[in-house]
Amino acid sequence: MSALRDAVSGSGLVKVLSVVGARPQFVKAAPVSRALRRDHTEILVHTGQHYDDAMSAAFFRDLQIPEPDINLEVGSGSHAGMTANILRSLEPVILDHEPDGVLIYGDTNSTLAAAVVTCKIAYPGGDRPWLVHVEAGLRSGNPRMPEERNRIVADHLSDVLLAPTAAAMRHLEREGLGQRATLVGDVMVDSHAWASQRAPDHLPVAARGLDQYILLTMHRAENVDDPDRFRPILEGLAIDLPVIFPVHPRTRVVLEKNLHGLPANVVAIDPVGYLEMVALEAGAYAIATDSGGVQKEAYLAGVPCITLRSETEWVETTEAGWNRVVDADPRAVTRALADPTFMDRAKPRPALYGDGHAAARIVTALEAMPERSRASVTA
Ligand code: UD1
Ligand code: UDP
Repeated sequence: MSALRDAVSGSGLVKVLSVVGARPQFVKAAPVSRALRRDHTEILVHTGQHYDDAMSAAFFRDLQIPEPDINLEVGSGSHAGMTANILRSLEPVILDHEPDGVLIYGDTNSTLAAAVVTCKIAYPGGDRPWLVHVEAGLRSGNPRMPEERNRIVADHLSDVLLAPTAAAMRHLEREGLGQRATLVGDVMVDSHAWASQRAPDHLPVAARGLDQYILLTMHRAENVDDPDRFRPILEGLAIDLPVIFPVHPRTRVVLEKNLHGLPANVVAIDPVGYLEMVALEAGAYAIATDSGGVQKEAYLAGVPCITLRSETEWVETTEAGWNRVVDADPRAVTRALADPTFMDRAKPRPALYGDGHAAARIVTALEAMPERSRASVTA
């Protein structure tokens, strides 16, 4: 327990309000919540950005995350509409609970909104909760991504930045945020290790009995909402292997408008829970994805990953030879699968994302925070 905190609060106990809202945030929050609740108090707020059972409740069940204390139920909407709804409904919740600090994850609209509310709130007496950002410092260099804008704002507003990688630390230093940053490793490693022990019995029916299959996920707005990218990507997946495709609801909307037919070898299924996903990843011959989290999980599972984007934040996986960023090139998937060096699973696979104890380091960082933040902390 931190001496600083003991001196300030006397009790050493931390009261944290965690904000989650979208699928990857449930995966990131699960191990932190487990570690935090051993000695401290957590108020878990779900913004309601994701709400289908398969996008939300399934993760709480699979990862044994406690029920959210509050669900803001903001649902879907435009970027501004969703962000505004979270801003409006989160403020009274923070004022009501008066946590010592607020914990945010990743780069969604829920992250952005929680950062903006927290840094401007004032408790009676003038203090405000500190703001800690988990998965800080990621940069794609692509300003058109809504996530890139969200993460830059969240980083600049946060009091403490907990970075998953050395590359993320360098980005923060370059932006003058190095003083607030600590390298804790990637908390998705903790979740993946936890789930890998429980996943083997959870392979979805669609993949059972298949000798080899490609696992596909696609949901990035810049891919699925742009026919000039989505069409060639799908063309490139017409290969002579089955492709198992758990379809994100954003992607389902586009496919249901019949803008693009799926190649005959692509088996579309509903989004799967986390244990099913970890089982699918472990059994795949290769993974094709535009997801951030899935790129890392492919690496952790030792499965070659083809990234259907023009850049990646997870550059370590490409440098290690396990991930190939192919953009929307329709020939790239076939080329990657035919490359023996890329497909070689005996390649070295160093622990690029830490040792699986990021959650414990995050809790240590929270214990080192003062009870409340003076508004001048980030000034
Ligand atoms: C969001 C995040 C993205 C993250 C992704 C994880 C932002 C800007 N984007 O993208 O960074 O990678 O989550 O999956 O925050 N929908 C449903 N049911 C649901 C949720 C969504 O049907 O439970 C549909 C709605 O039509 C909605 C669309 O999916 O309009 C997009 O949802 P939204 O939360 O806006 O963005 P994502 O694409 O999920
Ligand atoms: N995931 C899942 N089921 C699916 C698709 C993804 O459990 O059908 C998990 C995946 O294993 C990873 C997380 O969701 O842990 C990634 O979420 P997503 O790809 O939606 O978002 P991103 O990581 O790109 O922000």
